[in-house]
Amino acid sequence: MTKGAMLYEGKAKQVFETDNPNEVIVRFKDDATAFNAQKKGNFDLKGEMNNAITTLIFEYLNTKGIPTHFIKKLDEREQLVKRVHIIPLEMVVRNYVAGSMAQRLGVEEGIKSPVTIFDLCYKRDDLGDPLINDHHAVFLGAATYEELDEMYELTSDINDILIDLFDKMNIILVDFKIELGKDSEGKIILADEISPDTCRLWDKDTMMKLDKDRFRRDLGGVTEAYVEIYERLKKVLQK
Ligand code: TMP
Repeated sequence: MTKGAMLYEGKAKQVFETDNPNEVIVRFKDDATAFNAQKKGNFDLKGEMNNAITTLIFEYLNTKGIPTHFIKKLDEREQLVKRVHIIPLEMVVRNYVAGSMAQRLGVEEGIKSPVTIFDLCYKRDDLGDPLINDHHAVFLGAATYEELDEMYELTSDINDILIDLFDKMNIILVDFKIELGKDSEGKIILADEISPDTCRLWDKDTMMKLDKDRFRRDLGGVTEAYVEIYERLKKVLQK
């Protein structure tokens, strides 16, 4: 397998083609952005940690029957994945109120929600990834109602598995964002990453934030938090 031209560069990752048209290489960068890239940083080990954490989580989800794009980890920064067409919707799940939802609705951060809350955002950096609803998504041609049903079900299944996994790590899964894509057969599968960049993770005993909020809110110890998540994940998964 050979690494070809760069197909795409995002804020935290690059994607390269390979000699197989159905497979691409994802490279995790140390760059961090927040608030639609108005805030920028760079953290040693972040790319390596997100590659390693995403690898462990996607492998685990695969064993639980969740279809993902993940094929294999190639080295410290890179993984081989199935090529997909990313559906331009961010699926956000909230088990506790935090972040933009706390701000938008004037609710205190840290309240556990009695229901699982799903937000849909339209992936458009130039618009700041606006919050939309199902009807907007269908109007935009991003997905059909039937596909949205399937996407919510898959996202909910992933949430159930991850709540349990993080619980074993003594961590509360506050909220997270995933991206889904369609593979060469049109099947909807999990793509992108699941890492402290894309989740809010609070230590159950201390409520310490072990995720990208340490960067967003200038709390310090960003790399240490990502390493902590990786270490706990390895221990629980016996890797
Ligand atoms: P929010 O509270 O800012 O809407 O974020 C909800 C969750 O989604 C949080 O775990 C961070 C994650 N997220 C991303 O991964 N990428 C994004 O662009 C945004 C806005 C949120």
